[in-house]
Amino acid sequence: MLVWEDDSRTVPTPVPRTAPEQALGSARAAVSSPSSHAVAAAAHAEHTAASSVVARSERRVNVAEKRIINGQTDVNQLVPFKYKWAWEKYLATCANHWMPQEVNMSRDIATWKDPNGLTEDERRIIKRNLGFFVTADSLAANNIVLGTYRHITAPEARQFLLRQAFEEAIHTHAYQYIVESLGLDEGEIFNAYHEVASIREKDEFLIPFIDAIMDPTFKTGTLEADQTLLRSIIVFACLMEGLFFYVGFTQILALGRQNKMTGAAEQYQYILRDESMHCNFGIDLINQIKLENPQLWTPEFKAEIRTLFEKAVELEYRYAEDTMPRGVLGLNASMFKGYLRYIANRRATQIGLEPLFPNEENPFPWMSEMIDLKKERNFFETRVIEYQSGGALSWD
Ligand SMILES: [Fe+2]
Ligand SMILES: [Fe+2]
Repeated sequence: MLVWEDDSRTVPTPVPRTAPEQALGSARAAVSSPSSHAVAAAAHAEHTAASSVVARSERRVNVAEKRIINGQTDVNQLVPFKYKWAWEKYLATCANHWMPQEVNMSRDIATWKDPNGLTEDERRIIKRNLGFFVTADSLAANNIVLGTYRHITAPEARQFLLRQAFEEAIHTHAYQYIVESLGLDEGEIFNAYHEVASIREKDEFLIPFIDAIMDPTFKTGTLEADQTLLRSIIVFACLMEGLFFYVGFTQILALGRQNKMTGAAEQYQYILRDESMHCNFGIDLINQIKLENPQLWTPEFKAEIRTLFEKAVELEYRYAEDTMPRGVLGLNASMFKGYLRYIANRRATQIGLEPLFPNEENPFPWMSEMIDLKKERNFFETRVIEYQSGGALSWD
């Protein structure tokens, strides 16, 4: 008999954990333990049989019946399209394909190894940055694959989420590639989300919203459950991808603008472009769910979301202070207070909330240029395309 069959009947004995471990461990444990896998699989089988993997009817898909959540139409039939914006965003992300190893890191390696190549404050920024991002995109990928995806019943939106999940894998690959290229201590960087308070606090804020929808017994269809899903999508798109990434992105791109660590900066530029697509897709998804389910958008729910926005701004500002104890690269923590408030206002208005901090202006207008690679084409000029793409294959 195979060992895992026995495992599936064994309920694991809970091991007491410390508070931070409990917060961080929950999302991770759900994807890593064979026992929890088996329990999850059993519950998931029950869930999916009742919901969305198999067509419930042999009737042809009526486009008018498609829904983003709680839809009854066959999720295996991409067409007829209803949500063309989702399909177009999927095509746009595919058109932006890149791989980390296309970027030449030799100048970065020389700069990092040169004792005079960077200041101590610049080195701190790079290590803190990677410390956050090496695990952040794995959290994002797990959230999509094990959480959001199965609750979305529009195949056009699922198609985007599949592409997004692959991009999150590319991002984790890119951060690992930078860590490896620079010869950083992997144990230190990959454990930063346990060991560095300003990073841990951001992840502890996010993880309950991932856990809620990853729970194998969770399913949509009630007001409370649908609000749980919507809240999770808002936290992920607007606050994680749309806010928690921005101090880090700005810092590394500021280094690149000073002609330092241009390989890392170029990778971050591609990631910023991808993340801005993810964030925009998430916002469209949120607005479509609101449109189809206006009962979810209650005054209490809106007030709760505003509180989450305020908390996220506070946590990201604390991260800015921790990564920049002094002014560096023409940046300082207090400049980020304005920037984070500006971004939070923008995300709030994009999903139909009033701005949280009226009259904030963008102190880093050059960041918007960075997102638009057409304007900034080959800004760092370190990319070499050597990998084998479809166009380069020989069919002889
Ligand atoms: Fe990512
Ligand atoms: Fe993302």
